[in-house]
Amino acid sequence: MKSSLPLLLVFAMTFASPAFAKGNPARGLKIAQRNCAPCHAVGRTGESVNPKSPPFRTLAQRYPLGDLEESLGEGIMVGHEGPEMPTFEFSPAQIADLMAYLGAIQVKKR
Ligand code: HEC
Repeated sequence: MKSSLPLLLVFAMTFASPAFAKGNPARGLKIAQRNCAPCHAVGRTGESVNPKSPPFRTLAQRYPLGDLEESLGEGIMVGHEGPEMPTFEFSPAQIADLMAYLGAIQVKKR
């Protein structure tokens, strides 16, 4: 398994960036389950309950997660512009947790 070491280092460096450093992914998952799971698929597998809601593990394919973090901090939900849009208010700590979780589950486009 020697050959997987460089890859692990790349991952470690990616998620050691400030945006992902502070949060606790386990708490982030709880936040997502409580607030977002009614519509979005929040796990590593599974489909969204509401088919229009993108699964969370694909969000980074649409835009940088850092942009999402910023919108969450400003109380704006990116992409939630229709009548179905719920508004959320999160503390900076909750946002860090959520971002840590989202960062951990992203899958690359195939
Ligand atoms: C009541 C259903 C519902 C809930 C609850 C919900 N969403 Fe959404 N969300 C949607 C729908 C529907 C879309 C797609 C909107 C569109 O494409 O116009 C969406 C889109 C998004 C997008 C943008 C996707 C894009 O590419 O533009 C993000 C990011 C997002 N949701 C995050 C969240 C987060 C974080 C939570 C929980 C804190 C959450 N959503 C809770 C219904 C929901």
